[in-house]
Amino acid sequence: HKIHMNIVRSHCLFLCGFLWSLTAFPPCAALGQCRGSSPEQCSRAVAVQRRVDCHPQPGATQENCEARGCTWCTTDVPNAPWCFFPEDSPYGYSLGGNAEKTIYDPNTERFEVPLKIDSPGVAAEDTSYDVEFTDDSSHFRIKRKSTGTLTKNMKKWQSQAIHNMLFMFQPFANLYGVHPFYMCVEDDSNAHGVLLLNSNAQDVSLSPNPSLTFRTIGGILDFYVFLGPTPENVVQQYTEAIGRPHMPAYWSLGFQLSRWGYGSIDVLKETDVQHLDIDYMERRLDFTYDKENFAGLPEYLQELKKAGMHNIIILDPFISKDEEPGTYRPYDLGEEMGIWVNNSDGVTPAVGQAWPPGNAVFPDYTNPRTVEWWNQLCLEFKNVLDYDGIWIDMNEPSNFLQGQFPGCADNDINNPPYIPSISDRSLAEKTLCPDSKTYLGEHYNTHSLFGWSQTAPTFHAVQQATGKRAFVLSRSTFVSSGKHGGHWLGDNFSQWKDMHYSIIGMLEFNLFGMPYIGADICGFNYNTTYELCLRWMQLGSFYPFSRNHNAEGNMEQDPAFFGEEFAKISRATLRIRYSLLPYLYTLFFESHVHGNTVVRSLMHEFTSDQQTRGIDTAFLWGPAFMVAPVLEEASTAIKKHHHTGIK
Ligand code: GLC
Repeated sequence: HKIHMNIVRSHCLFLCGFLWSLTAFPPCAALGQCRGSSPEQCSRAVAVQRRVDCHPQPGATQENCEARGCTWCTTDVPNAPWCFFPEDSPYGYSLGGNAEKTIYDPNTERFEVPLKIDSPGVAAEDTSYDVEFTDDSSHFRIKRKSTGTLTKNMKKWQSQAIHNMLFMFQPFANLYGVHPFYMCVEDDSNAHGVLLLNSNAQDVSLSPNPSLTFRTIGGILDFYVFLGPTPENVVQQYTEAIGRPHMPAYWSLGFQLSRWGYGSIDVLKETDVQHLDIDYMERRLDFTYDKENFAGLPEYLQELKKAGMHNIIILDPFISKDEEPGTYRPYDLGEEMGIWVNNSDGVTPAVGQAWPPGNAVFPDYTNPRTVEWWNQLCLEFKNVLDYDGIWIDMNEPSNFLQGQFPGCADNDINNPPYIPSISDRSLAEKTLCPDSKTYLGEHYNTHSLFGWSQTAPTFHAVQQATGKRAFVLSRSTFVSSGKHGGHWLGDNFSQWKDMHYSIIGMLEFNLFGMPYIGADICGFNYNTTYELCLRWMQLGSFYPFSRNHNAEGNMEQDPAFFGEEFAKISRATLRIRYSLLPYLYTLFFESHVHGNTVVRSLMHEFTSDQQTRGIDTAFLWGPAFMVAPVLEEASTAIKKHHHTGIK
């Protein structure tokens, strides 16, 4: 997009060796060269499948389209842009100067994701690809040397928004994490992957040209291309660059039980629960426990330990500021250390509202002092509740308001000229204002790094506190989060389609280098049903992270609740899991050492078999074990694996 991407610096592996200076072309309107709009002109315009959207935000009209120098031609091809860049008149940027090292803007400081990419690098003659430039150097193309192609037919116009957000589950909507990475299997079965290492709000569009359009509203265009050639090679190369997944503890491969709303220690005891959700806290305050409803919790956890069981506690990234001074150490100490995310003035803490009563401030984990504070509190709390792992939730970061008090100022950072197609088209939706200040820079740039920046410090704290391999489960993730944590897919619904989506999510996170992944078995929101929950227990027995979790207010759904028959069937599938744990553990070891996927799609493993393309109703554990669950109501057989078109 022209507004924020006008000038970029790139560390692209494939660009090393070139210095580009970029010159923006004036729009065609200024040159009197606009085309299209009349039927005759439209018939001669760019073929529909080759259009590149020139007005991706809502509200395109012929007038505002032409005002920005683009062509307006309607079409009945679904989702194809009506306002598009004219092909043969100059637009965008051209490259000038001599080919040397990088594309950069000498005049602007731009945000760069503070992630060190480890990549051995190769000499140009040893690469498996060529980079070709068009005559005017405004475009380049990467081609695989062995086949001369990297193109792929994409049949549909589709757009994917990328920006951390607490929002509802919907295909293509942005949710809790940011992984601007894709893996593509080419028609000849070679695979490649591309990472755009950029943390700003962005969207990516696919067109049948085929083309991919990245629109990001900040940072740099830091692209990495991984040439495979097998899908598994792509993931190995990707995780070599971003960091291999951590090695999970063996115990964490066991089945786990959780719910929000157990309400009291008596219910906990009845269920033998291992995950303690926010109701264990006193008034939802981090680093406390409810001494009334959960009286005896420390002792109970010790009992569970003796029985060989482990437990995980939840912590949220909001610290109440409204407790009596001197009574709530996490706030008092944090205040003293000056570790909160600040308002745009860079001095006063941003105040929002979340679980704890009153108002809350947000620890800025990009600040090394915050890491010290967090580490200290996690270590101290281990002496109160003897936890084995920490579940870090709501770290998009979530806030129940739109921006902090008193709302976001009307400026270009909070309301940039282009907002990617994220939910509600608001960067402050259920989070902080983009112009808030973090140690690493404006929240505008660091927003989607919040959970990521909390994950490594939590991992180190758990490691230090337990003296064992750490367990960290994070809702928000970014490129390389898998190095220090696992992930669950968030607040799904007790619906058949959500059970199906969980397979897609699990496959995606294996591509992202986060193989310790699973969804809330039986569904989080809504009441589940006997049949759905049973089928979900069967599928979930094969999630790498296998946890039944439920929201407050819903009916019970733990496997003991539905009676003996249900328990027997659940036990039977879980036994298969347990008998295969050595295999699963070995897959995690391979993943930790070589970057392999733990769960993979059929296409990933049997890449040249065309029938496997797009199957998202079954999956493999490593190369050798297939799980094909029943995903439909009232059915007792799997007919044929089909491509559901969801992806
Ligand atoms: C969030 C989490 C969910 C948790 C709830 C209460 O919605 O995603 O898993 O149960 O908060 O802590």
